[in-house]
Amino acid sequence: MAQTLALLGGPPLRRRPFTKWPIAGRPDEARLLRVLRSGRWGRLQGREVERFEQRFAAMHGCRHGVAMVNGTVSLRLALMAAGLPAESEVIVPPYTFLSTASAVIEANMVPVFADIDRGTYNLDPACVEAALSPRTRAIIPVHFAGLPADMAAIHAIARRRQLIVIEDAAHAHGAIHRDGPAGSLGHMASFSFQSSKNLTCGEGGIVTTNDDALAEACRSIHNCGRRTGGRWYEHHVLSGNYRLGEFQGAVLDVQLDRLEGQTVRRDRNGRYLARRLAAVPGLAPQERPESCVRHAYHLFMLRLDARGFGAPRDAVLDALRAEGIPCSSGYAISLPDQPMFRNKAFGPYLAGAGLRTDYDDVRCPVSDRLCREEGVWLEQSMFLGTRSDMDDIARAFEKVHEAGALLRDRAARRRRSTPRRAGS
Ligand SMILES: Cc1ncc(COP(=O)(O)O)c(C=O)c1O
Repeated sequence: MAQTLALLGGPPLRRRPFTKWPIAGRPDEARLLRVLRSGRWGRLQGREVERFEQRFAAMHGCRHGVAMVNGTVSLRLALMAAGLPAESEVIVPPYTFLSTASAVIEANMVPVFADIDRGTYNLDPACVEAALSPRTRAIIPVHFAGLPADMAAIHAIARRRQLIVIEDAAHAHGAIHRDGPAGSLGHMASFSFQSSKNLTCGEGGIVTTNDDALAEACRSIHNCGRRTGGRWYEHHVLSGNYRLGEFQGAVLDVQLDRLEGQTVRRDRNGRYLARRLAAVPGLAPQERPESCVRHAYHLFMLRLDARGFGAPRDAVLDALRAEGIPCSSGYAISLPDQPMFRNKAFGPYLAGAGLRTDYDDVRCPVSDRLCREEGVWLEQSMFLGTRSDMDDIARAFEKVHEAGALLRDRAARRRRSTPRRAGS
């Protein structure tokens, strides 16, 4: 017989919290104090950011890293460093955080959406092909949730059309693809260090690359257009001050010491949970292609098919939360459907781009369905725990599945009792 759901008055499956994020301790405190007392708080006076950049880049298979104020700016500056013509088209996925597309607009280029693969939630190469036009100049694959994108197929397209590839690796610290670490798989890559990310200092970002000229261009654009060896008040390109401060650099450098161990643990736990949840009817954890050597599990993502599972997503998520399992439905709106795109609310940008910025007819059904009814997210810090934490998550899904019929009836009753709004 099914156990009574916590949502319906039964005892919750789990009362203990999962691992809290961020994790910090004495070493972080000591380094912060050291910077404080040194009086060298800006990146141009100290060595903290520089040291972190070198270590982070090396860990991600790159010769260069340029740290910046956040991962939106690092995406935009990578695009600017590429030297592409104004209003070039840049192919991006629709199932990602806003910045992947908004950074393109802020670089005065046109984002063009290509749908994602239904199994991996990464750019679908066939949709990338279909989105190409004579104006396409770049592709931004997102390593979604921390799973490296299909880089072989993306590079095949990029080589044929001489396109720039910029990885959006905001979710992929420490992820490894068959061809190398995330961050080293395109011309440039952008990472974020915002609070939720697998490596964080509150706010921050970095561009990594193995191309000396692109690294120099990023360095210049993030530092008021200065050139290495130039005079202080000599500015060569349109740019600004996007430098990361020494406090953040120090925190990141200490946090980096923990990244490898944390990534191994997330990957191990994520693999295990994926195996367990795949056995539950109606659940489809993110597929892991053979090219993935290590998943960063910034998110553990799955699809929930309401019919197969026996209850609609939102009711299931309510029930899981009541059982003590934090979870969410993730992005609610696929990017092309966001009001910003529907209304072309681009401020002063792309005023002359006309029809190419008309997003009304863009169709990305896979992304759309994930947003509307199927997507489920679990956050990275839950995967820093033990196997028994994973067992709790799996058992909670199983418990909710067994009580699916009750939940379905409850959701239907609620729908019937919610008064409809009068039509206009
Ligand atoms: C996929 C993706 N790209 C870019 C960003 C932007 O990073 P930031 O918040 O540091 O500007 C994020 C952050 O949430 C992200 O999830």
